Formats: sequence, C-alpha cells, structure tokens
Amino acid sequence: MFAMDKPSRDRFIWPVFLVEGEGRKEEIPSMPGQFRWSVDRLVAEFPQGVKNVLLFGQTEGEKDEIGSAAADMGGVVQRAIPALKRAFPDLVVFTDVCLCAYTCHGHCGPHDPEGDIDNDAACEMLARVAVSHARAGADGVAPSAMMDGQIAAIRAALDEEGVTKTLLISYSTKFASTMYGPFRDAENSAPSKGDRQGYQASYRDPDTALRESVVDEEEGADALMVKPALWYLDLISKVRSRTLLPVMAYNVSGEYSMIQAAAKAGYCDLYPAARESLYAIFRAGATQVISYWTPFYDEIFKD
Ligand code: PBG
Ligand code: ZN
Repeated sequence: MFAMDKPSRDRFIWPVFLVEGEGRKEEIPSMPGQFRWSVDRLVAEFPQGVKNVLLFGQTEGEKDEIGSAAADMGGVVQRAIPALKRAFPDLVVFTDVCLCAYTCHGHCGPHDPEGDIDNDAACEMLARVAVSHARAGADGVAPSAMMDGQIAAIRAALDEEGVTKTLLISYSTKFASTMYGPFRDAENSAPSKGDRQGYQASYRDPDTALRESVVDEEEGADALMVKPALWYLDLISKVRSRTLLPVMAYNVSGEYSMIQAAAKAGYCDLYPAARESLYAIFRAGATQVISYWTPFYDEIFKD
C-alpha cells in the first residue's frame, strides 16, 4: 500500500492583497478569512508557518490608461517587499505583475487608437513593473497579463537591469474563467467594459493553452503555471509531463470561496474539503500551489 505524504509547507504560496495606508486589515466579503492588508499590519500579523507569498497591489490614487502607478517605487508592492524581507529574512517573496488594478478601465493592458488591447505597449509597461519589483528585492516576478511576448520582454528588461537572481514565473496556461470573481472584487480590477477572452485562453481549446506554456519556456520562464487549478487538473498533468521546470497551480479565488460557501451552508466540512481539493492538485502533478488556504495549513493537515 502506498499513500502520499502530506505536502510540505514550502510547496504553498499565499496570495496577499495589499492596500495603501496604515493599520488596515479589511476582510474581503466574497473571500472569508482573506483580507486587504496595509504593509505595516501585514508585517505585524503575518501568519506563522507561511513560507512563500505572492503579492498583489492596487492603488487608490490616480488610475490611467496605461497603469503607470504599477511601476511606482513608492507603490504598496514595492514598499512591502523590503518590509517583509527585513522582518522575515527567510520568507520567499513573489509578486504579481499586471496592470489591471492600476488602469482606469480595468484591463490588463492599454488600448490602441482602435480600442483594442495594445499588446506591445502592455509588454513594455509590464517590463517596467517587473524591474521595479526586482529592484525592491522580489525573489520572483509573475506576470499574469497574458500578453504575447511578455516573458521575452521582461527577461530582456531584467537582463538589461543586470538582474540575474530574480525568478521569472509565467502564468503560462491561464484560462478565461468564471472562477476569478472574488479576486476582482478584492482587487477592484474587474474590466469596466468587455471581458478578457481576447488575451486569456479558452477552455475549449486546451492545445493552444498548452502551447502557451511551451512558448513561455522558450522565452525564458523559470517556472510555469496552470490557472485555475481544480477544473484544469488535466492541464496540470500535461504541462508537467512536457517540462522540467517547476509547475505551479493557482488554486484561485472562486475555488476557495466555493468551498467556504458550501461549508457555511452545511454541504461539506470546510477543512476536509479543502484538504481533498489540495491533494487533487498535487496528485495531478503540481510542484507548488498558490492557494488562499496556505495560512490554514495546520487546520487542514492536522492529522
Ligand atoms: C489579473 C489576475 C487575476 C487573477 C490573478 N491575476 C484575475 C484575472 O485574470 O481576471 C485571479 C486570481 C484569483 O482569482 O484568485 N491579471
Ligand atoms: Zn490583469
């Protein structure tokens, strides 16, 4: 008889939502147990046992067409990195690199004169954001905008900056999904018009989605990612069998909130259901999971 060991803590990455100001810790209504944190409060109440974080920023200042504020060295992400590193030298700090929480329209890139998403202008801006996070000391940057060529553009910008240690983690196989709703609520990043089907993959076309992981590896990614995780276990397994890079799976907001809501309604037990879903993700072949369950590791894997 063979039984899997429980996955170790270092395979869990906690996504954290940052906000400006001080002393703030605000629960996200659609994500029980998850908060928007100001930098000081996050450092003061950082949950024990969390080994890796993925930081998401936003701004309450001016949002413009290109999302300029995302590259500001005074932004919440750029400030949080050194603050966390100072307080917890062993913590691994990854950052999400995108523009949607900083653009006035909520898309992951700016528009061209015809009103379409301007892929190349987006890549240029994403490279600036990634460099700002690397300068602030991030261990890894994770671009999630799904623009063509974003990995190559960021790799070139990091090289030019002389940055060699920062990992480049690609959200390589990312589907246009209904499972991002609570996240967009948390990040105030829902597109004001249109949707993201123009740049995110279609779940009816898994081969194209898979090819995007292959291309990102060729462009110089250090790790690949499948997102969402639970309805895409087949893709986790396929990506894993085609690469020697780490394969991260993003157990997204909707996947977390569905279990929370079902447990609240009495349809299942919270932690056992979370545990079962996490085992599924690792069984499929994920090397790491990005999950909102990370701070609840002790409750989930207690026996
Ligand atoms: C934005 C981004 C999204 C998520 C991570 N980065 C939302 C989206 O693509 O609309 C979703 C994460 C989650 O739902 O937990 N680029
Ligand atoms: Zn985005």
